[in-house]
Amino acid sequence: FLYDAFALAIGYLLGSIPFGLLLTRLAGTSDLRAIGSGNIGATNVLRTGRKDLAAATLLLDALKGAVAAFIGAQLSPEGGVIAAFAAFIGHIAPVWLKFKGGKGVATFLGALFGLYWPAALIFCAVWLTTAAVARYSSLAALVASAAAPIALFLFGRGGEAVVVAVMAALVWRKHRDNIARLRAGTESRIGQKA
Ligand code: G3P
Repeated sequence: FLYDAFALAIGYLLGSIPFGLLLTRLAGTSDLRAIGSGNIGATNVLRTGRKDLAAATLLLDALKGAVAAFIGAQLSPEGGVIAAFAAFIGHIAPVWLKFKGGKGVATFLGALFGLYWPAALIFCAVWLTTAAVARYSSLAALVASAAAPIALFLFGRGGEAVVVAVMAALVWRKHRDNIARLRAGTESRIGQKA
């Protein structure tokens, strides 16, 4: 139990580092949350015009999920899943930002990568295909996050599928404003500046 609690704490702390906010602040943007969608993720960093920082945000927000899953797995048999889930929660509800965090897509991907990488590849393929066709980051995230638990289930990983399904449901909930904009036809497309 102690090791599971460690996995939970380490996962949450790693996940709660808001890389998008920190990187843009270092680059001179006082508050990323005042730009575009107001989100702290890579898609919104891209709206500041800094492709390099957007890529770094995507990488680091994903990496913290993968690293959490890896560390957790060293601690106990179920530690990987616990830490991956905790990192995801840390990203969407970080104590440092009064629990108002990001939408969790990059950290979802990283966590998935750490848990079972073939499912992460499916996520990437679905995200890229949807984004290439529709040019909406949010829609790509919605479709890819829904595909991930299905993929895990088909790979015979039912336990992880259930946890990832809960994460996908939270990704959807975090995107409720995006869903409203998609339905209204007012969602901003990838590459559109703030
Ligand atoms: O990863 C978040 C993305 O799906 C939507 O971001 O900034 O357009 O709300 P944003």
